[in-house]
Amino acid sequence: MATATIIDGKQFAARLRAGIAAHVAQLRADHGLTPGLAVVLVGEHPASQIYIRNKGLQAREAGMASFEYRLPAIATQAELLARIAELNQDPAVNGILVQLPLPKQVDPEAVIEAIAVGKDVDGFHPLNAGLLAVGGTGMVPCTPLGCLMLLKDRIGNLAGQRAVVLGRSNIVGKPMAALLLREHCTVTIAHSRTRDLAGECRRADILVAAVGKPRMVQGDWLKPGATVIDVGINRIPTPDGKGRLVGDVDFESAVEVAGAITPVPGGVGPMTIACLLLNTLTAACRQHGLPVPEVKPAAE
Ligand SMILES: NC(=O)c1ccc[n+]([C@@H]2O[C@H](COP(=O)([O-])OP(=O)(O)OC[C@H]3O[C@@H](n4cnc5c(N)ncnc54)[C@H](OP(=O)(O)O)[C@@H]3O)[C@@H](O)[C@H]2O)c1
Repeated sequence: MATATIIDGKQFAARLRAGIAAHVAQLRADHGLTPGLAVVLVGEHPASQIYIRNKGLQAREAGMASFEYRLPAIATQAELLARIAELNQDPAVNGILVQLPLPKQVDPEAVIEAIAVGKDVDGFHPLNAGLLAVGGTGMVPCTPLGCLMLLKDRIGNLAGQRAVVLGRSNIVGKPMAALLLREHCTVTIAHSRTRDLAGECRRADILVAAVGKPRMVQGDWLKPGATVIDVGINRIPTPDGKGRLVGDVDFESAVEVAGAITPVPGGVGPMTIACLLLNTLTAACRQHGLPVPEVKPAAE
């Protein structure tokens, strides 16, 4: 049986970060401008600590300024909003990211809406979501943007492709569907109330799975030759107690049917931070009235 091409997101993301770094260096040389990314963490969520450390590290590696703010788990919403208000005003900060999840005393919607729309590098602000929906120029959420880049790199022109997006969250599923529609795909959004999920998936030339259910999508759910983007990050137990990460797609069976597939880890994950840096560069250019560069991944 045919075996799918493995889409190496880790390598693509590294090349994209190198492409971003080249533009950042150019921006500094031409305009004396250093894009700045501020990351705010409330509490000590272990996975979040790793994420924000990596975001800061990769921002600095790309030549950007990185600012990290940590508030205690008991911080009030007012304290967090005051910090965001300061960052909105700070000219050294072009992008603001508040790491989710937030402690329960803080309303995430109020926090997201407090971030200046032009500095919302996560693309979660309702105005940015609206701009994406109406085809305007806003900030696009990082994970779906990364998925789209991998798809375009693999397929080229996506027009006319039948795409199924599994999951309808505001951070992945909905913006992913909007991006695919913008690329002229015929898009279906499937979710927990969808009837005959396997049948819907089997029609897809492009399947993006973002459900958070370990290995839910089986090989026999796929159209032979389909391109499969697995957004899921799920930790499952292993006999040694360490656990391991798997996606929402059962890789072993899917790889026998798909034409191309992203692995977990090493697929979509690394693209998310790379696209965060891309959004920060975009935000910095827009805030200074400069043209937004078309960043290409550096050559291999
Ligand atoms: N790679 C990355 O950088 C990255 C970034 C973000 C998220 N993720 C991962 O991607 C996954 C999804 O994240 P998310 O934030 O979008 O999750 P989420 O907010 O929990 O949304 C999950 C979506 O999947 C649907 N769903 C759940 N169970 C289903 C089932 N049995 N059949 C069909 N649909 C089902 C839900 O449907 P309803 O709406 O009907 O409930 C919902 O729309 C998670 O594993 C997460 O860790 C990865």
